[in-house]
Amino acid sequence: MCGIIGINSNKSVSATIINSLKKLEYRGYDSAGIATLSNGFINEIKSEGRVENLEKNSSVQNMEGNIGIGHVRWATHGLPNSINAHPHSSQNVSVVHNGIIENSTLLKKFLVSKGHKFKSQTDTEVIVHLITENLKTENIVNSIKKTLKALHGSFALGIIFKDQPDLIVGARRGSPLAVGYGPNENYLGSDSYALKSMTNKITYLNDGEFCVIKKDHVEFFNEDGTKINKKVLELSSEDEKYDKGDYKHFMAKEIEEQPITLKNGIKEYIDSANNDINIYNIPWKKNEISSITLIGCGTAYHSCLMAKYWFEELTSLDVNVDIASEFRYRKNRFKKDTLYVFVSQSGETADTYAALDLCKKNGMKTCSVVNVIESSIARDSEFVLPIHCGIEIGVASTKAFLGQILILYILALKLALVRGDLEKKDLSKKLKDLKELPKLVEKTLQTDNKIQNVSSTFNEAKGSMFLGRGFSYPIALEGALKLKELSYVHAEGYPAGEMKHGPLALIEEGMPVVVLAPRDTYYKKTISNMQEVIARGAKVLLITNKSSDEIISENIWETIEVESTNEDLLPFLLTIPLQKLAYYSALKKGLDIDKPRNLAKSVTVE
Ligand code: M6R
Repeated sequence: MCGIIGINSNKSVSATIINSLKKLEYRGYDSAGIATLSNGFINEIKSEGRVENLEKNSSVQNMEGNIGIGHVRWATHGLPNSINAHPHSSQNVSVVHNGIIENSTLLKKFLVSKGHKFKSQTDTEVIVHLITENLKTENIVNSIKKTLKALHGSFALGIIFKDQPDLIVGARRGSPLAVGYGPNENYLGSDSYALKSMTNKITYLNDGEFCVIKKDHVEFFNEDGTKINKKVLELSSEDEKYDKGDYKHFMAKEIEEQPITLKNGIKEYIDSANNDINIYNIPWKKNEISSITLIGCGTAYHSCLMAKYWFEELTSLDVNVDIASEFRYRKNRFKKDTLYVFVSQSGETADTYAALDLCKKNGMKTCSVVNVIESSIARDSEFVLPIHCGIEIGVASTKAFLGQILILYILALKLALVRGDLEKKDLSKKLKDLKELPKLVEKTLQTDNKIQNVSSTFNEAKGSMFLGRGFSYPIALEGALKLKELSYVHAEGYPAGEMKHGPLALIEEGMPVVVLAPRDTYYKKTISNMQEVIARGAKVLLITNKSSDEIISENIWETIEVESTNEDLLPFLLTIPLQKLAYYSALKKGLDIDKPRNLAKSVTVE
């Protein structure tokens, strides 16, 4: 993951680089660093932890230089300390890198044999020495070309040179990189978001391309060093402002924003006037598709799993779901009548992007459900369905999850309708319920005290389980992921019916178990599974929906009731208490809720 910034200007750049690094922190927050060029010297300052640590360093505040690069790191090779922080520099060259160099050990051996001395444990440092070595015999463009050719793996690079006061090199393979254009200055950044406070004129590099950024113009090259022309895109000039407001954490704010996420999605996609769904421009004929494969990672994968239940219920399509990091290396049977759907909040997740790329290379139909519409996944898929939930800052995905499942549900309805699997009158009823959903989520968000009370039990236990059947199973997985990600306690999501095939052995006296048992088709079956865990000593937190019928079980530790709606839509409501459970557990432990340890918001390495 890691975030990169570069600025070539005619005024001092360090303060602007620091501000951009703050925007890039969602990509990594293990360490931060900056290098500038002044009076023919490369100055480099790095610090462990957040950008604010770097900013506090008095030398950064006095750092001179009109050209510079900066980096926030998510550690891959080597501990997250200041030595391994980027930039990495030799006397001649300084480099920031996002990605992984897979042949770094071999390259290091070669470079050591040539007399190069290494300071860090990173893979990145080989790039510095390789460029330095190649510069002995080549000019800048050829040394870069030669270096890139020798690297295996993925990278987005920003490079400055001691002897080049008006030049930054950027290069991309696998990891995203953008160039921005300003008045008498130009920029390099991991994404347009980092550049937005400076410019809305952007060029995205494609895989294999590199660029030379001067103050007054930018040149682009393909892998073999041939000059190419690239388009300048003009993005919306609004620099989306997003702060915590009165909330303690972005995550708390983002949980509360979910009714708005749903309202936005519904407004965008529901065509109330025609009792239809506002997805009219699908580029494939209905009989061209007989199956659908949904692909994502982490929470986005759970959205895909959720969607499988809806697509199977509503349409006649065959439905497959895959984890992107598995899909990309399997021997897939690509079939022309399959639609591949990629789900991603950031639109930059390396594995999801690679899966999309693979499908495109095999001539498949591709569609993406993304939040960041300027992202690589959105740009490179044939058809894009934006989530419209606004910026999500908390590393633990909340509003984007609800946004993703909303759009996937709407897509399932649309495909069901155009394929003749769903009648207009049935659609009308479903749309009516859907329009009520934001209000129900708002009400469910008010269930707070009970969740706060039970959260300590989850923190103090050795581990916990989250069980559900049918529509509730993907939500159980998501609830467990949220708890482990935020509270650093072991939590396992399981289909309730699978417990007796092994995991039941884990249940012991007092173990907290969340059982999702809304009054749906699976209710009675799930309640039976719940009784099986209660009988073995589990402390069950039952999450169900409000009903006039009494709950058919005894010895339940605690019960939380969400609002009621039709069976399809209950997963949206069940998600809310699970997000809050994870939030309060982490809050009670005093953990860094918006930036959990070892993680990053955008996972741009595989
Ligand atoms: O940006 P993406 O949706 O592609 O990210 C995928 C996962 O990395 C992400 O959902 C991750 O699992 C979240 N931290 C979970 O809360």
